[in-house]
Amino acid sequence: MESPLEPVLTPEAYRFVVDLVYQHSRIRLGEDKQALLANRLRHRLKDLALSSYQKYCQLLDSIEGPEEIEHLVDLISTNHTKFFREPEHFSFLTKKALPALLPRLLKDGTPLKVWSAACSSGEEPYTLAIVLAEALRAYPTITWEIFSSDISKRMLARAQLGIYRMESVAPVEPELLKRYFQQGVGSRTGDCRVKTEVKEHIFFHRINLFQAEFPIPKRQDVIFCRNVMIYFDPPSRATLIARLTEQLASGGYLIVGHSESLFGIRHSLESIQQGVYYKP
Ligand SMILES: C[S@@+](CC[C@H](N)C(=O)[O-])C[C@H]1O[C@@H](n2cnc3c(N)ncnc32)[C@H](O)[C@@H]1O
Repeated sequence: MESPLEPVLTPEAYRFVVDLVYQHSRIRLGEDKQALLANRLRHRLKDLALSSYQKYCQLLDSIEGPEEIEHLVDLISTNHTKFFREPEHFSFLTKKALPALLPRLLKDGTPLKVWSAACSSGEEPYTLAIVLAEALRAYPTITWEIFSSDISKRMLARAQLGIYRMESVAPVEPELLKRYFQQGVGSRTGDCRVKTEVKEHIFFHRINLFQAEFPIPKRQDVIFCRNVMIYFDPPSRATLIARLTEQLASGGYLIVGHSESLFGIRHSLESIQQGVYYKP
């Protein structure tokens, strides 16, 4: 019997939730995640004044289901990120990718397009923006755009806000911090805000990597899709890589996280270095 104070997540309810999460996001929760899910959902049940997981499943199955599924995916997804995470990828961008792309950018005048495809709270696209702003200071005729997207509305809202605690920007070099962030004063002491001249290059979109169409331009020059593939099962990873490859320009680069690789996936990209792939 379920006590009204402590709902019990039954195996049936767990399976129902796991399948829904998978259908919506392709995030595959393993059998070992039952306690974690129960823990994360406990507060949600309280907020919704629901006394059991069974009632929660009924809500998910109702007309309000699609909205609740978004909350659910938000609750279970891992959003960990940081400025200059896996810094080799940013060095690759400035030392290898940009020099290779420069002739085209200088010749045809179209903007450089970079997509941060699972941007979480924004540290990755802002790092990209800082790195590009620095690298392209010497090339004022080159324009650049960063498309920044995530499945989570909550994370995307944080990314769009562009305000971070000073502790979070610790990986940013002091000179860059001064150039690209404004430090808060008064009640905002301890916070810093990304400056408008950086932000205006970034276009935010809510994108599920498995939705039918991506509402951003094709022929991206670089796609950062880091630390999200690990949550997907092998068939979903293969689907994703095929879709990202299609979204890339010839001569463009796909960058995945250090703990991810395209090993075991059929693809047409060339491996350049750890986590970096080139579309010929
Ligand atoms: C661990 S964070 C990675 C952030 C950043 N790319 C990095 O490497 O620091 C993973 C992000 O993927 C997002 N995500 C999970 N499933 C997704 C999906 N199907 N479509 C788009 N984003 C998804 C989550 O909301 C989360 O913000």
